Amino acid sequence: MPQSQKEKELLSELDKSRIPEHVAIIMDGNGRWAKKRGLPRMVGHRKGIKRLKEIVPAAKDYGIKILTLFAFSTENWNRPKREIRGLFRALERYLRDEVEELQKNSIHLHPIGRLERLPSFLQEELSRVERITKNNKGIILNLALNYGGRSDIVEAVKKIIANRPEKIDEETFSKYLYTSGQPDPDLLIRTSGEMRISNFLLWQLAYSEIWVTPTLWPDFKKEDLLQAILGYQKRERRFGRIEK
Ligand code: IPE
Ligand code: IPE
Ligand code: MG
Repeated sequence: MPQSQKEKELLSELDKSRIPEHVAIIMDGNGRWAKKRGLPRMVGHRKGIKRLKEIVPAAKDYGIKILTLFAFSTENWNRPKREIRGLFRALERYLRDEVEELQKNSIHLHPIGRLERLPSFLQEELSRVERITKNNKGIILNLALNYGGRSDIVEAVKKIIANRPEKIDEETFSKYLYTSGQPDPDLLIRTSGEMRISNFLLWQLAYSEIWVTPTLWPDFKKEDLLQAILGYQKRERRFGRIEK
């Protein structure tokens, strides 16, 4: 994707030595984007999913190592059946259409959440693309589907009870989460202005920097991602310590 003047300017401000290793995004605002235009919500979802084609490779180019995207929450089942079905179909199509691009950009797809409750057509496409991309080393794309932070913790507890590890501490506990082996997000981005977590990575977000932008997800561009990273680089992460 060619660089815009704006992107070039923002890139020149970036401190390459302080790129967040793990970025998580709550991709919100598809419905409002459509409503503003008098269009059905599904148009917003399709437009939102299209954004992934730009944002995922851009994240890799900027040096992010793990990108976790919230695509469907355990609470989103409370939406009309038609919308849910349409969203799953659109996600399946994205995976099918993009698998070559994912390969080309060395993106490793790693779906997270209670995938066994998703329709089989989507489960099959997810595991097919995961299998094809599993050796890619460019960036890990955790795609959160039927994901809930509480459910992540409850499932971890079930696995711990079944495995009976000798020692249970924070480090071993986190190995039982869907993000096992990955560092926690350094930066959480939420689009469309809502200042809440909505049951996203509850455990993993303990010390993440939070960036909320009023931009609706279907309008979110790589320049917006750069703005968020630049904002992150201005923060002082203290982790409970006092200033030096
Ligand atoms: C985010 O957009 C996509 C999902 C939650 C699946 P929304 O559909 O929540 O859009 P708004 O919040 O209604 O605008
Ligand atoms: C969070 O957005 C879930 C996803 C982006 C997948 P919601 O639109 O579901 O969150 P609430 O209902 O506004 O908290
Ligand atoms: Mg929403």
